Amino acid sequence: MSSPKIPITPIAQSKLPSFKLETLQFGKHFTDHMLMADYENGEWKNVVIKPYAPFEVDPASAVLHYGQTIFEGIKAFKNNKGEFVIFRPDQNLIRFNVSASRMEMPAVPEWLFMEGMKQLIALDKGWVPSLPDHSLYIRPFMIATDPFLGVRPSATYKFMILLGPSGPYFAAPMKIMIEEKYTRATPGGVGYAKNGGNYGGSLHPVELAKQKGFDQVLWTDANEHKYVEEVGVMNVMFVIDGKVITPSLERGTVLKGVTRDSAIILLREMGYEVEERNLSVDEIVAAHKKGLFQEIFGVGTAAVVSMIKQLAHGDYIMDFDTEKMVIAKALKQALHDIRMGVKEDVHHWMVKI
Ligand SMILES: Cc1ncc(COP(=O)(O)O)c(C=O)c1O
Repeated sequence: MSSPKIPITPIAQSKLPSFKLETLQFGKHFTDHMLMADYENGEWKNVVIKPYAPFEVDPASAVLHYGQTIFEGIKAFKNNKGEFVIFRPDQNLIRFNVSASRMEMPAVPEWLFMEGMKQLIALDKGWVPSLPDHSLYIRPFMIATDPFLGVRPSATYKFMILLGPSGPYFAAPMKIMIEEKYTRATPGGVGYAKNGGNYGGSLHPVELAKQKGFDQVLWTDANEHKYVEEVGVMNVMFVIDGKVITPSLERGTVLKGVTRDSAIILLREMGYEVEERNLSVDEIVAAHKKGLFQEIFGVGTAAVVSMIKQLAHGDYIMDFDTEKMVIAKALKQALHDIRMGVKEDVHHWMVKI
């Protein structure tokens, strides 16, 4: 289907003048408009951009009871040339439809996802902050709306896109605990999908870690709690003896991060060796004891590159001087330069609005 112009109902009075964009907390404030579309009788219809507002769902809606819901997280920027650009949204569309398939939800067509996002941002572009490390966070999501309490895939859905101006997220170096009791994802489960339940299930273990003084957990595999998987809601990268190592995706328990993929490409271009493989806690601790464990950082859309200053395995504490994290810093800079238009976008990652 071609890309139709999406009908717009504009807001009567923009909320923008009452906000100072640069100091807004991540995830708490939204722009003037949102996109909404309905899936009924096997097709997407009623696509509209309208003022951001609460909407009604039937209390029996499947999403409220059985968690049939998926989402994405993407960022747009105002680059140094004053252009509005989105970072690799095509990859998020692919992942969104992978998540949809796993959750037995309909695929969202490219025009709806991409054109919807572009037309919404074009309308609310005054909300994109220009300070360094600030961005416009884009949240596409889909919910199951059948008012029916039987456990079966819904026949009706809503697809929506929200936008929120965003400052740096998790910017301070983090203290992390290796999690060996709770699990984020299991082989055969839904860890590779961005469905809501994955995140709801992670809250309790993270809260327990916070009570012990940590910021987040390093998830380990469900079977043995032996291999590392992700850190909080980010992919994780280790630098051991000059080599970058990140957990592989083959068990289906690690989310295929867009930042992870971009990092692997950029780090290899910079000449670093990058391995995607199983990495055990034992190997990490042994490397630390030999003085070979140099860096550990999370990578993801929200935080981009988030350095870790302490990693705890039970009573064994591994401390890191984040000032000396050469590779994490180089990666952060490289991603920043591409997004801001400072460096040539040779991979054509930035989509102009
Ligand atoms: C569980 C999880 N892992 C990793 C990531 C990082 O993925 P991306 O780089 O695409 O944001 C995210 C965030 O989307 C996530 O929710």
